[in-house]
Amino acid sequence: MYHLASLLALSAVVAATNLGQRPLVDHQTSALKKNLVSSEALEALILEENLLKRAEDLYKIAELGIEEYNHPTRVVGSPGHYGTVDYIYKTIADLDDYYTLSNQTFNAVVGTVFEARLVIGDREPLSANPFALTPPTYKKEPVFGDLVLVKNWGCEASDYPKGVKGAIALIVRGTCSFGDKSALAGKAGAVAAVIYNDQPFFPLSGTLGSPSPDHVATFGISNEDAMPYIMKLKDGKEVDASAYIDSIVTDSPATNVIAQTKGGDQDNCVMVGAHSDSVSAGPGINDDGSGTISLLEVATHLTNFNVNNCVRFAWWAGEEEGLLGSDYYVSQLSPDENIKIRIFMDYDMMASPNFAYQIYDANNKVNPVGSEELRELYKAWYTKNGLNYTMIPFDGRSDYDAFIKNGIPGGGIATGAEGVKTPEEETMFGGEAGVWYDPCYHQLCDDVSNLAMDAFIVNTKAHSIATYAWSLNGFPKRVASKSEEATPQNSLPDAYRAEYHGPHLII
Ligand SMILES: *[C@@H]1O[C@H](CO)[C@@H](O)[C@H](O)[C@H]1NC(C)=O
Ligand SMILES: *[C@@H]1O[C@H](CO)[C@@H](O)[C@H](O)[C@H]1NC(C)=O
Ligand SMILES: [Zn+2]
Repeated sequence: MYHLASLLALSAVVAATNLGQRPLVDHQTSALKKNLVSSEALEALILEENLLKRAEDLYKIAELGIEEYNHPTRVVGSPGHYGTVDYIYKTIADLDDYYTLSNQTFNAVVGTVFEARLVIGDREPLSANPFALTPPTYKKEPVFGDLVLVKNWGCEASDYPKGVKGAIALIVRGTCSFGDKSALAGKAGAVAAVIYNDQPFFPLSGTLGSPSPDHVATFGISNEDAMPYIMKLKDGKEVDASAYIDSIVTDSPATNVIAQTKGGDQDNCVMVGAHSDSVSAGPGINDDGSGTISLLEVATHLTNFNVNNCVRFAWWAGEEEGLLGSDYYVSQLSPDENIKIRIFMDYDMMASPNFAYQIYDANNKVNPVGSEELRELYKAWYTKNGLNYTMIPFDGRSDYDAFIKNGIPGGGIATGAEGVKTPEEETMFGGEAGVWYDPCYHQLCDDVSNLAMDAFIVNTKAHSIATYAWSLNGFPKRVASKSEEATPQNSLPDAYRAEYHGPHLII
């Protein structure tokens, strides 16, 4: 039977979010003797000790990467990632036939930087950071040359003076992608490239994107680190430099794991996803071990209930290499399969130590219709639980991107990555203003101690999943499976037609 108190609470939220009427009788409930899922009954099963245990499991799995990478990692192509996929698969396979479980393997371009060093003049710029997917320097040995300032934005071949040949090109960030700049430097004969930030205060890191034979070993540095050299070069002085990167860029098979409830309307699915991979720099326990674990816990406890609508869980591979797994998945959906996905919810970084409760600011004007209803559902839940929240840009930095570009409404929650907490957010969430939400973002220290367990529990309480699994009455119907009709992409205003795609900057 239904738990009366939880039903009342749930009805209030449902009314507030226009979900419409709940069905009064559910035939599955009596047939299979499990209760129909309710938000509060599911929430009550989410326990800190289980989340922590799984975080420890994932850390142990990340340690499988030590032999090759000298530190724990779950990056795609590493034993730590294969181990993670096995772990997810086994966890779901053990759940008594509740789910249809499948794998989807695709080819991922994976880059690993083993060692890197940049020296300019007589010092190493502190902010120097090799770009993701950078090729190594020639023969994986240090290269030497003059530092040569490239004109304008370095987006045209004519911006590269003759002196770039055999030299190290210094290029400002902006206008075209890091990958374009690196390739143009390579074509001009540079032995390495250094791109400096056009904005003050922050180091520059990102990815060169799709590999090109013209790419050269490329570093990012801060504006402050670049300025003294630029002054010297503009004064006609010479600055010598050396660069060294030992890296590989390879193709590697990567596997998404998908689990769908056997129960529930198979033509109307509620889909949720988290990414199973980490960056190569560390074990990725918050990013996105936390989302991976949240979904495993919810999938485990959901088996205690019946659902009216099917729930489909996805653990994506290759998110950190540019949203590869989710892109591939959506690209493989036929129009008929696409339209069965009523909503996609993204769970990437649930437990940042200096967290804010963040909700993606999706809306029905620029995103597929239904995205706004989901956003409002999250807001109502935090409000009902006496918690503050903030809205963050829904700008394509995680796995929801391919979904909303292909007509599927989406949204999600997060707790913050490399952004800086504001003083106002300190009063709203505690923690420390002026510091990153996750000071260990994409670093070795993203380990089990890098989790805010209070935020982890709150964000694993799968209210949105339970709500939509229970009823999609009143939730906007899907109108088009592909971009022909509700073309989200074409109707985006310029500000939303974000150039970059994925968790790394590309421009
Ligand atoms: C799916 O992947 C898991 C984990 O790597 C593996 O154990 C399992 O055999 C695979 N299943 C299929 C059907 O390929
Ligand atoms: C929410 O934010 C306000 C400040 O805007 C603060 O006074 C309050 O304590 C916060 N609530 C919680 C639960 O942290
Ligand atoms: Zn992530």
